[in-house]
Amino acid sequence: MTETSFYDAVGGEETFRRLVHRFYEGVADDPLLRPLYPEPDLEGAEERLRGFLIQYWGGPKDYSEQRGHPRLRMRHMPFVIGEPERDAWLKHMRDAVDTLGLTEEQETRLWDYLVYAAHSLVNSPT
Ligand code: HEM
Repeated sequence: MTETSFYDAVGGEETFRRLVHRFYEGVADDPLLRPLYPEPDLEGAEERLRGFLIQYWGGPKDYSEQRGHPRLRMRHMPFVIGEPERDAWLKHMRDAVDTLGLTEEQETRLWDYLVYAAHSLVNSPT
């Protein structure tokens, strides 16, 4: 019996492409978050977050081939992430998740992970 990954169940690459693209449209217009991103455009950041999420949910492992072990907490240390940044990040992610048309169960699973991950990356008192 083969087990379908969450990645396949929610529609594969296309779904993660839509999720992360929509998310960065929100970040692009966010006065709190946009200045944190070091590169002049958000394309590279979009590719890295998409690749990471695809890999995390059981899709192709391009992210680690290109970037190595994720070490997300370490990689976020250069950026000041307090509760306001975390909540802004989650707000754009929530908007993006809501556009996907997932089942309630899929949506809850994805959202619970994103909330947990965002809380774990706070590195600054507010
Ligand atoms: C990278 C901000 C939460 C995954 C980044 C970058 C910034 C950032 C400024 C650098 C952009 C770049 O790659 O050039 C934030 C803020 C968060 C947050 C403010 C709020 C809590 C998360 C969460 C995840 C995540 C929850 C995963 C579920 C990533 C990944 C990268 C990244 C995979 C690229 C790492 C690399 O390969 O260098 N983030 N992030 N971030 N973030 Fe976040």
